[in-house]
Order: sequence, then structure tokens, then C-alpha cells
Amino acid sequence: MEWVSGLRIPDMRKPLLFFLDRFRVAANEKIPALIIHTLPMRIATPPVSELPGIALRQLESSDAEAWYAYLQLPKVVEHTSWNLGAVHDLGPIFDALESDALDSQIRFAIIDERHPQLIGTIGFHTVSAGNRTAEIAYDIAPQYWGQGIATAMCRVVTDWSFQEMKLSRVQATVLPSDMASTKVLQTCGYQYEGLLRSYRVVRGVPRDYAMFSRIA
Ligand SMILES: CC(C)(COP(=O)(O)OP(=O)(O)OC[C@H]1O[C@@H](n2cnc3c(N)ncnc32)[C@H](O)[C@@H]1OP(=O)(O)O)[C@@H](O)C(=O)NCCC(=O)NCCS
Repeated sequence: MEWVSGLRIPDMRKPLLFFLDRFRVAANEKIPALIIHTLPMRIATPPVSELPGIALRQLESSDAEAWYAYLQLPKVVEHTSWNLGAVHDLGPIFDALESDALDSQIRFAIIDERHPQLIGTIGFHTVSAGNRTAEIAYDIAPQYWGQGIATAMCRVVTDWSFQEMKLSRVQATVLPSDMASTKVLQTCGYQYEGLLRSYRVVRGVPRDYAMFSRIA
């Protein structure tokens, strides 16, 4: 056990510091536990896009329509487990993004600054603050495919997760048929670890997934 910022915590210094950071609370401030549970979930230092004309910001519930506009396209979901029937099916994801739980999902909107509009998302699910691990996921609207956007965003968001979230491992699970995503991961330094058999149900059918990871 050690004392951090007036809080007594069990061997969780780095996850807690990230947790405090998300709430815009300096690590050297004393904060009542009550505040942790009442502030809205915000990330103090989101990743910065290094691609000209492309920005990153937190995903907002007002992005749902633009996100769903391309997530309903068969060619977008073909190599993923997405199975949306209507825009409100994204509701549980936005609820999870608003959660103040330590292991809650994180998702950023990828924005074309010229218009500006949402052209993709990237973030983390299956977050384990205790193990300092998370799984990266992303999607890009098809009219923006092949411009290096997913590769650039995957690189900066992965680096950000090591620096800001203090993760030690980021993993990615990909259908073996998803050649574009596999290329994105390999270009960003993710290593193939093996095939997970019947790992995830894809529109009713259990499918094998390739596991990739990067270590900090
Ligand atoms: C996967 C996805 C995010 C890639 O986005 P993107 O912005 O087009 O990706 P990039 O342009 O950065 O890079 C794609 C790479 O894959 C390559 N590629 C694309 N289609 C390919 C194919 N069928 N076979 C082999 N390589 C392919 C491109 O040539 C490019 O490689 P390069 O860096 O050598 O030029 C996008 O296709 C997408 O949103 N797909 C649907 C959702 C999805 O699959 N998400 C990932 C789930 S794990």
C-alpha cells in the first residue's frame, strides 16, 4: 500500500495516475473520493494527429449518425463483428464511453478538418487498468480508405496509450480475411501472436481471430 494524493491505494499507482489524469485532476492535488464518481469522463490529454488535415478528438454522442452512416455498409463490416440494425444500437457504446469505471472504453473521433466531419473512429475496449492492457479498434469511412489515415492514427494512438495510459501491452484481434487491418497493424509494429479459435461470434457464426500485439 502507498499514499498518492491523499488517497490510500493498493499497488495501483500508474493506473490511478491515468485515472486522475482523465478527470483533469493533478496528481499532487488532494481530492475527495466523491469527486471521482461525479465528474464526467473526459480525457485531459488526448492524442494529437500527426496527419495534416486530420484531427482527433473524443467521440461524442452527437457523432452517432455520421458513424452509423458508414457502419451500416456491408463492405465496412464485412471483416468485423459489427452487427448494427439501427443507429440506436450504438447507444450502449456511448453509455460505456461516459462511464467513470477505471476499465471503461475509450474512443476518439477522426475528423476531416476541411469539412469538418467524422470520417472514422479509433480507441480501446477490453481495458484492464490492473494489467495495463487494452485492445485497439478502428474504422474509417470507405471514401477515405487507402490514404494512410488508419495507419497514422493507429501509430499515434498506440504511442499515446503507452505514454498517457501507461499501458504495457496493446492487443488487436482481426479476422484473418481483413488484409487492410492486418497491414495497418504490421506497419505500426504489431506482432502476430497466433490464431484464436472460435474467438468471437460474427453475425451468428463463431470465427477464428488473429491476435496481434505491441509491447511498450
Ligand atoms: C481497415 C481500415 C481501418 C484501413 O483503413 P485505411 O485508412 O484505408 O488504411 P491505410 O490506408 O492506413 O492502410 C491500409 C493498408 O492496407 C492495404 N490494403 C488495403 N486493402 C488490402 C487488401 N485487400 N489486401 C492487402 N492489403 C490491403 C493498403 O494498401 C495499405 O497498405 P500500405 O500502407 O502498404 O499502402 C479500413 O479498411 C476499414 O475501416 N475497414 C472496415 C473496418 C475494419 O476492418 N476495421 C478493423 C477491424 S480490426
